[in-house]
Amino acid sequence: CGIVAYAGDRAASPILIQGLRKLEYRGYDSAGIAIHRGSKIEVYKQEGKVANLVESLGDYHGDPVHRGAKVGIAHTRWATHGPPTTANAHPHHAGDGRIALVHNGIIENYRGLKARLESAGHQFSSDTDSEVLAHLVDSYYDGDLLSALSAALKEVEGTYGVACICSDEPQRLLVARRGSPIVIGVGDGETIVASDASAIINHTRQVIYLDDNDIALIDGGRVDIRTLDAVPVQRDMASIDWSADAVEKGGYEHYMLKEIFEQPEAIRNAIRGRVDVERGTAILSGLGLSPRELVEFQRLLIVGCGTSLNAGLVGEYAVEDFAAMLGEVEQAAEFRYRNPIVGSKDLVVAVSQSGETADTLAAVREAIDKGAMVAGLVNVVGSTIAREAGRGVYLHAGPEISVASTKAFTCQVAVLLLVALKLARGRRMSREVGMGIAGEVLRVPELVEKVLESNAAIADVASHFVGYEHMFYIGRGYLFPVALEGALKIKEISYIHAEAYNAAELKHGPIALLDEKMPVVALLNRGPGQEKTVGNVEECRARKAPVLGVITEGDAEAKAACDRVIEVPECSHYIATIVSTVALQLFAYHVARLRGCAIDQPRNLAKSVTVE
Ligand code: G6P
Repeated sequence: CGIVAYAGDRAASPILIQGLRKLEYRGYDSAGIAIHRGSKIEVYKQEGKVANLVESLGDYHGDPVHRGAKVGIAHTRWATHGPPTTANAHPHHAGDGRIALVHNGIIENYRGLKARLESAGHQFSSDTDSEVLAHLVDSYYDGDLLSALSAALKEVEGTYGVACICSDEPQRLLVARRGSPIVIGVGDGETIVASDASAIINHTRQVIYLDDNDIALIDGGRVDIRTLDAVPVQRDMASIDWSADAVEKGGYEHYMLKEIFEQPEAIRNAIRGRVDVERGTAILSGLGLSPRELVEFQRLLIVGCGTSLNAGLVGEYAVEDFAAMLGEVEQAAEFRYRNPIVGSKDLVVAVSQSGETADTLAAVREAIDKGAMVAGLVNVVGSTIAREAGRGVYLHAGPEISVASTKAFTCQVAVLLLVALKLARGRRMSREVGMGIAGEVLRVPELVEKVLESNAAIADVASHFVGYEHMFYIGRGYLFPVALEGALKIKEISYIHAEAYNAAELKHGPIALLDEKMPVVALLNRGPGQEKTVGNVEECRARKAPVLGVITEGDAEAKAACDRVIEVPECSHYIATIVSTVALQLFAYHVARLRGCAIDQPRNLAKSVTVE
């Protein structure tokens, strides 16, 4: 979900709407704004995308009510409690329009609170936990919004990023966070708050990131931050360094396509200054680990969710392959709830584009509590995981807006290869071998450029797969994570059901599903195990399954084994994880485009999942 809020001298509504458009990638089930109207707060909300809300507002630029309102809050929702209806949309209000708030996160004890408030006469009009919070604030309100919100938040179990206004204090805006990000953009006599910086950078680059349990009282350009017990706290001002253009589409039809094409540059930024070819190693000073500490770890444990989890699997393979060290990847939620065996001998790397994913954050905390050394591999600077891990490597991929992750994945893989190289060189790997790997990593941006040159050819291949409803993706070794990521992309944006399998495992059951209606996408880059996967492809074709191979350029044998192929440049197998993934990103993109899907905003998904 996305939050935007404004307090200053300008009309709030246009700023809020513009901010919602920037945040829509975080959730788009419904949207709403709340502003002051006379002595009350008026809430406007609508099911569906921000465009629906805008339509329902009519001429808000010309409307005197909207023009006069200088403080307001807004929200775009990704449904957790209750379906995506107008009633469940935020802002929620209470006290006959006295209090309005927007909320990200989950109030875990909302049932108990709701029952209590109901017996005290509060009436609810939605199924949401957030509305309970609005009523709770109202129940404590006694002329001071700061103390009412603090009192309410003290009772809350769960997570929140919240922005709240009150009709009796029309100048004021209150925001608070616990577990769900709040960024305060400090402008000249005005303040723009959002759940992420992309809604702020059009107005100011000076930001303050709230810490958990902070509450901020905002009045125009004044920001007063306290603890929930009203003790003033000081938070540093940070400066955002990416440009406003970075969050625009820049002539591409979709953010996803733009971000796919940004990959050579993004990877260059991710590896810049981090590869030492001469010494055959990686420079990762953000890890803050001495050579001795590095070799003393017995295991590299990688945690993440979704695409970041798939990238982590490449990291697992690479650390075993390069460093002869135990590598393991774990889905973050599984890790945290399993009473995991983890401790001071482990280096735990949390992989997350947003740095806000609730399960990954919880895994970080669990690993820290159990004495492990934790590092973040995060894209968003200043995000919660980056800050709590305290050490790590930023991806520098630039803002990723498309819900389906592309450039974050390839940058994560590039950096994980460097982490593995660093660990390897601290152990047994020779300088020569290290130099070879370092050189290969440096070639990645160029190799990716070559894949992008095949965009039209890949679009043509995609046109032959538009009509299927199911697909298998197979790969072995380093190419298995690619199969997982390829299948995830096609599921996310084209809604074709896809499953990824280890190439060897297909015959142990799933092969029963194969027929002419079930295509198989096979990762057939030249390298170890290739001929075995070709064998698996033959098994598929014998069952009439149409096979699309991702093959090394000019590999006639592999080509002959498939019905159609996408050719990618020759490279080491561990680099093929990036190169072939880019090809499958484009494939998924074109299939989804030809199927007429909402590529940047696939149904039911959200960019950053700050709930468990
Ligand atoms: C969500 C997104 C995925 C993403 C995952 C992890 O589910 O839809 O695209 O891979 O979260 O996000 P993170 O920001 O932690 O990488």
